Amino acid sequence: MRKEYGNKVAVRKLSLMVPLGSIFGFLGPNGAGKSTSIKMLLGLVKPTSGEAFVLGERAGDVAVRRKIGFLPEHFRFYDWLTPAELLRLHGRLCGMAAAKLRERIPVMLDLVGLTPHRDKRVHDFSKGMMQRIGLAQALIHEPEIIFLDEPTSGLDPMGRRLVRDVIRAQRERGATVFLNSHLLSEVEVTCDNVAFLKDGEVVAAKDLHALGEAEVHVVVRARQLSPQAIAGLAPWTTAASVEGEQLTMTARSSDVLPHVVRHLAASGADIYSLIPARASLEDLFVRIMGEDRGL
Ligand SMILES: Nc1ncnc2c1ncn2[C@@H]1O[C@H](COP(=O)(O)OP(=O)(O)OP(=O)(O)O)[C@@H](O)[C@H]1O
Ligand SMILES: [Mg+2]
Repeated sequence: MRKEYGNKVAVRKLSLMVPLGSIFGFLGPNGAGKSTSIKMLLGLVKPTSGEAFVLGERAGDVAVRRKIGFLPEHFRFYDWLTPAELLRLHGRLCGMAAAKLRERIPVMLDLVGLTPHRDKRVHDFSKGMMQRIGLAQALIHEPEIIFLDEPTSGLDPMGRRLVRDVIRAQRERGATVFLNSHLLSEVEVTCDNVAFLKDGEVVAAKDLHALGEAEVHVVVRARQLSPQAIAGLAPWTTAASVEGEQLTMTARSSDVLPHVVRHLAASGADIYSLIPARASLEDLFVRIMGEDRGL
């Protein structure tokens, strides 16, 4: 698919397959074309050329649209409504029966932590509360696919954790989640697959469960680390250095980590923790996008 706005190319050449039942992370710098891509997949924006299929039907198909949940990046709700009224409206628009909605609305309000605010009008909601009701409206009709465009941007740490749990629960019930997010640490622990979008084009994709294919940086906290034990790591590592109780190393792949742990333990080291160095997805992102890229 391609989308031009005047002579500005928003999405150059989007070609994407998202496995059903998985959590898919769609990553890219500001202005890369992520939100435009989602809107094309929903049928809200008409591609300049190309087409997309969602659940086997052309993007925008009304019957399929009812099976889709969407939390937009910039949302505006009818803000004179209470959260329950807003959920009822969205549920009805998706064709839900009144009885089903009566049962489901309190469950959803509870899920997103808004039960104490049920009598407020959405107008008086804080940014994070808006995002929570936005998430609830995206899920009210138990959609098969959920598009979330930066669902955690306004949320506190508890809210972020809640979104993470909610996303995983959606996968558990068999739904597919398409997630736009700049919070790579969240993406890293939530998504099954990611694609990197740069200047309107997918430039890389990664299966986050694939083990053993690339070098991993690991930080080990241990006592009784002998210089011989460190020297003995050579078969499995390309670099290893110790500072106090912290051993930092680059393992050839995650497959070798069990050997490393056995080797260290056998040498008499007491291991307290072994943590893959944080932000590896961030490193990858920066490498793919190029560090000097401005808008
Ligand atoms: N309605 C529009 N009219 C004109 N240009 C637009 C429109 N919507 C998006 N664009 C342009 O298309 C490009 C891609 O925008 P898009 O919102 O898809 O990016 P994004 O990847 O979602 O960015 P962000 O991470 O900042 O949300 C940008 O250059 C933007 O200015
Ligand atoms: Mg966007």
